[in-house]
Amino acid sequence: MDDDDDDIPQLSSQALAALQEFYLEQEQREGVKTSQGSGQYSVGSIEENWQLSQFWYSEETASCLANEAIAAAGKDGKIACVSAPSVYQKLKEQQGPAVSACILEYDRRFAVYGQEFVFYDYNSPLSLPASLLPHSFDIVVADPPYLSEECLEKTAETVKYLTKGKILLCTGAIMEEQAAKHLGVKMCKFIPKHSRNLANEFRCYVNYVSGLD
Ligand SMILES: C[S@@+](CC[C@H](N)C(=O)[O-])C[C@H]1O[C@@H](n2cnc3c(N)ncnc32)[C@H](O)[C@@H]1O
Repeated sequence: MDDDDDDIPQLSSQALAALQEFYLEQEQREGVKTSQGSGQYSVGSIEENWQLSQFWYSEETASCLANEAIAAAGKDGKIACVSAPSVYQKLKEQQGPAVSACILEYDRRFAVYGQEFVFYDYNSPLSLPASLLPHSFDIVVADPPYLSEECLEKTAETVKYLTKGKILLCTGAIMEEQAAKHLGVKMCKFIPKHSRNLANEFRCYVNYVSGLD
């Protein structure tokens, strides 16, 4: 065998990076496909993409928030999950079609959930389909992607448009003042946990008497 590999075609670093990205995306697409079926709604069935600031809740936290949303929405209530896909997944895993829920998300991989998926970019907070009527959700659960006032304020516009009144916000502990200013919510005792340890402290905030205290 010839040791001299001068004749072997070499990829440029850009081409190699593009190829790696292609394979990664293919793996993720396959992951989505193969996770369909009974586990399609399990938290983590769609992998975190850190470039989109995706940090999934732990199973326990997702369950706790889903249960809280159901209790707050009441019988036949409607639930909107804004940038909080794990809560939507947990609601569907636990309740199936019995629960009326919507997932507003920037990451189009969640379009696998069909008509309940609504593409959402917090930069255009009111660019929503006409089918999402104002004040039509009994509770809105939101977890904005960034710990900035700008992101919170824009997400808050969407939340206030959608909710009939009740709001459950998850964000950093450092956002307490801004959360009160833009949404009138107060910090709960319950501490949300993520599937990985995060550097920032997270909290839940509500504007109603909840089971999270
Ligand atoms: C901090 S994570 C919250 C996820 C939550 N902890 C969960 O487990 O469901 C932020 C979410 O915002 C979404 N996101 C990223 N960019 C966004 C954008 N421009 N507009 C709206 N949502 C966005 C991410 O895809 C992610 O689901």
